[in-house]
Amino acid sequence: MKTKKIIALVIVIIVIAAGVGIWLINANNNNNLNSNANINNNKYEENNVASIEENAVNEDSTEDREISDNNIAIIYFSATGTTRKVAGYIKELTGGDLIEIEPKQKYTNDDLNYSNNNSRATKEQNDSSARPEIANTIDTDPYDVIYLGYPIWWGNAPKIILTFLDESNLSGKTVIPFCTSGSSAITTSVSYFKNNYKNVNWLDGRRLGSSESEVKDWVNSLNY
Ligand SMILES: Cc1cc2nc3c(=O)[nH]c(=O)nc-3n(C[C@H](O)[C@H](O)[C@H](O)COP(=O)(O)O)c2cc1C
Repeated sequence: MKTKKIIALVIVIIVIAAGVGIWLINANNNNNLNSNANINNNKYEENNVASIEENAVNEDSTEDREISDNNIAIIYFSATGTTRKVAGYIKELTGGDLIEIEPKQKYTNDDLNYSNNNSRATKEQNDSSARPEIANTIDTDPYDVIYLGYPIWWGNAPKIILTFLDESNLSGKTVIPFCTSGSSAITTSVSYFKNNYKNVNWLDGRRLGSSESEVKDWVNSLNY
C-alpha cells in the first residue's frame, strides 16, 4: 500500500514537472516569437526609413534630372509657324528651354516669296556672306544639348541660322538639328554645319512633319 502511494506521488510529480516543462518551452517560444516580431518590426522600420531615404534620394535625382533637363535648349527660327510648332513639342518632351531666333527685320510674305528671284529670302540664300541680324540675345552657355530648328529654304538652312552659329560659342556642345520643309531633306544643311562649325558635336538631325507622335518617337530615340 505504502509503495503504491509513493508510485502515485512520483507520477504526480512527473506530470507536474512535464506540465511546467511544456509551459516553459512554450513561454520561451513565445518570447522568441515576440523578439522575432520585434526584430522584424525593427527591420520593417529600418526598411521603411531606408525606403523613405531612398525615396528622398530618388526625389533628389528627379531634381537632378530636372536640372539636367534645363541643360537642354530648343533654339529655332520659324518664318511661318511650322517649325515653331515642332519646337514646342520638343520642349514638352524634353523639358528644355524654348528660345526663338527672332530676326531684327521680320520676314514679310513678299520677303518669303520663293517664286520671285528678287525676294529677300531668295537673295539671302544666294549670298554666301548674308548674315541677317538677330534681334534677341541668345545665351547658350547654360546648355549642353541644343536642338536647333529651322525651315529649309532653297535646300538649306536660312542664313539667319548661320548668324546664330557665328555669334555663339557652341564648342563641345551637342547640337541636334531638326527642320521642316515642303519635301527637301535636312542632309545638305547638316553637312554644311559639320564642315563649317567643326568644334560642335553635330548629330545628324531629322526632317520632321508636324505629327506630334513622329516628334515623340524621334526625341525618345535620342535619349537626351
Ligand atoms: C523662301 C523659301 C524657300 C523654301 N525652299 C524650300 C525648299 O527648298 N525645299 C522645301 O522642301 N521647302 C522649301 N520651302 C518650304 C518651307 O521649308 C516649309 O514651308 C517650312 O515648313 C516652313 O517653316 P516655318 O513655317 O517654320 O517657316 C521654302 C519656303 C520658303 C519661304
